[in-house]
Amino acid sequence: MPTTTIDLFRFQPDHSDEPYRQQFELEHEDGVTVLDALLQLQNEQDATIAMRYSCRSAICGSCACKADGRTVLACMEQIEEVKARSGGDTVTIDPIGNFAPLKDLIVDLDPFWEKFKAVKPYLIPDGPAPENERIVPKEAMQKIEKEAACILCAACYSECNSLAADPEFVGPAAFAWGHRFAGDVRDGERKERVKLYSGDHGVWDCTRCMYCNERCPKGVDPRDAIEKLGGSAFQEGVTSDTGARHAKAFLIAMRTGGKLNESLLVPDTDPLWAQLDVPVALRMLVMGWARSPL
Ligand code: SF4
Ligand code: FES
Repeated sequence: MPTTTIDLFRFQPDHSDEPYRQQFELEHEDGVTVLDALLQLQNEQDATIAMRYSCRSAICGSCACKADGRTVLACMEQIEEVKARSGGDTVTIDPIGNFAPLKDLIVDLDPFWEKFKAVKPYLIPDGPAPENERIVPKEAMQKIEKEAACILCAACYSECNSLAADPEFVGPAAFAWGHRFAGDVRDGERKERVKLYSGDHGVWDCTRCMYCNERCPKGVDPRDAIEKLGGSAFQEGVTSDTGARHAKAFLIAMRTGGKLNESLLVPDTDPLWAQLDVPVALRMLVMGWARSPL
């Protein structure tokens, strides 16, 4: 049987204010998942190890953690896969990122649920209820089926660079749900939704690092949903946000000159900001680092 060293993040606030690391030697069956390994450790070596799990089948979304620095569903990732990727016999296991640990691998998910609730993740139908059900063409549902696959595991939040920079950023999963309803033909609040999602800490604050797409275990591709919400904002004429103006200025630059012209991009994005940046712009012109707006 293979043996793996599990290097585990520990935080037991009843005993210590500070997190620490603990190493365990674990002899285990071939093909065990990270969750199997944690449960074996809990049963055989330390009953105080705390983590969340339920379905053990990549359905409930409760077991996300980091294995060798990469966010995974613990019940979906095999220990041997982690070792093969990292090359070694030690697997480090940590709580997901961007959330405060409460105990070992259990983190405080309240901010995640608050953001989820804030995007109104439910249908707000237009007009009176029909006598029977609302029939939706299959093609219309296919446009939002990826987003409907989200299991709210928060793996995307764990990897989100915008969230790391701005804890108020609404975040990938919430926007995936936002698009799931803004893109639903039965919903009557598309414009209100894209206004809600386009404000401060909204869709335009995404850094496009794409980690949410890469790490989502269900193929939801939240970054794609964020992009679609940006498109919906333009279709609905919701373009007052700095991010939307920046996207528009970028498009105009591409259409007119074929390449980026910072001298126009900055004032088109934010005229006030551009005025404050005049000394920098002049220095860039003198150094030949920017093209003249003329
Ligand atoms: Fe998890 Fe993917 Fe949903 Fe994010 S979008 S919560 S990674 S299932
Ligand atoms: Fe349910 Fe892993 S235990 S998704």
